Amino acid sequence: MIGIILGTRPEIIKMSPVIRECERRGLDYFILHTGQHYSPEMDRVFFEELELPDPDYNLDVGPGTHASQTAKIMTGVEDVLMKESPEIVLVQGDTNTAMAGALAASKLHVRVGHIEAGLRSFNRQMPEEINRVLIDHISDYLFAPTENARKNLISEGIEGSKICTTGNTIVDAVYQNLEISKRKVNVLKDLDLKPREYFLVTAHRQENVDNRGRLKEILKGLESVQKEFSMPVVFPVHPRTEKRIKELGIGVNGLNLTKPFGFLEFLQLESQARLVLTDSGGVQEETCILGVPCATMRYDTERPETLDVGSNILVGADSTSILAGVRAAATRESGWMNPYGDGIAGKMIVMVCAAARSR
Ligand code: UD1
Ligand code: UDP
Repeated sequence: MIGIILGTRPEIIKMSPVIRECERRGLDYFILHTGQHYSPEMDRVFFEELELPDPDYNLDVGPGTHASQTAKIMTGVEDVLMKESPEIVLVQGDTNTAMAGALAASKLHVRVGHIEAGLRSFNRQMPEEINRVLIDHISDYLFAPTENARKNLISEGIEGSKICTTGNTIVDAVYQNLEISKRKVNVLKDLDLKPREYFLVTAHRQENVDNRGRLKEILKGLESVQKEFSMPVVFPVHPRTEKRIKELGIGVNGLNLTKPFGFLEFLQLESQARLVLTDSGGVQEETCILGVPCATMRYDTERPETLDVGSNILVGADSTSILAGVRAAATRESGWMNPYGDGIAGKMIVMVCAAARSR
């Protein structure tokens, strides 16, 4: 039996190819949702659009401080694992869900597979960096998306025999859903947008939006991009960011703020944008895969492959550098290579897990 642990928007999306493959092979598995994300637009919509089976368990942990959220997840995961006794547990990425799930499993001597292992921003101010390092060092199977990620693991002393370089499951998810999105949704028409004549934005990193000065600078930078290019700036607002913008009590001029989109809608918006501004990990990867320029509103990234191939630039989080970065990147020609694999990561991961169960 394989236990799949997830709890946030990116985990549902990036686990979807793994879940589909488990279904296709008729494997014995269960889905444990921690409930870290719970609003319908951050959770339910992805199960529906991606046609995923409902989770077998939902811990409903909701928001909290890092310690309280982590503790609730660990306790809930432990209960389920003691009941189900899986041979292997899979976690994805760098969230509190992934870290607490991996730690609870490892203490019960259940083998842990970490999908998207080996990413490093080398910035311990990010809660995600702490989670990544911890998960990698307690995992038994490390599914590294790229050669660079594999090297990071090796340089930290992790045995090469535990690492399998698979590509990133986001490539599978993009390939599997782009055509479906073309058939099922027409979000440009709905929002009255023309291809390549709008910018798309996402921002939710704790270090960006929980700092009032930094959030103000980001919003100012986005407003100046809208003014300079006279193009719509579409900004689906993450709930964390929505809360912080409300607290700031400032008006946001010229930006099209919306609720978060479903994956099919967002993928379509991304694929037709002139450029995407973001601080998201997944969005840096997706733009690279889709051939759309990306400006990342951060000072470092755990996705250096996107900088190397030229799809992405780091523009920081002050208004002047955001505008300058967009000026430089908006005219970039795509045609770079996709460093994240050829869309079979989910299959490879499930193959390794299926073989591991009997060991
Ligand atoms: C979490 C992950 C982050 C990931 C992101 C994906 C950690 C430490 N952070 O950040 O790595 O990039 O998910 O989006 O695990 N909220 C809602 N509805 C929801 C979810 C959250 O209203 O469905 C609000 C709550 O007020 C909550 C806040 O957003 O306090 C932050 O949510 P949380 O899950 O703690 O962190 P994220 O910023 O979503
Ligand atoms: N996404 C979405 N709707 C939106 C914004 C993002 O479906 O309105 C998807 C996006 O395609 C990507 C994922 O959410 O696959 C990224 O999640 P997020 O930015 O929340 O987390 P991160 O990748 O930074 O951990």
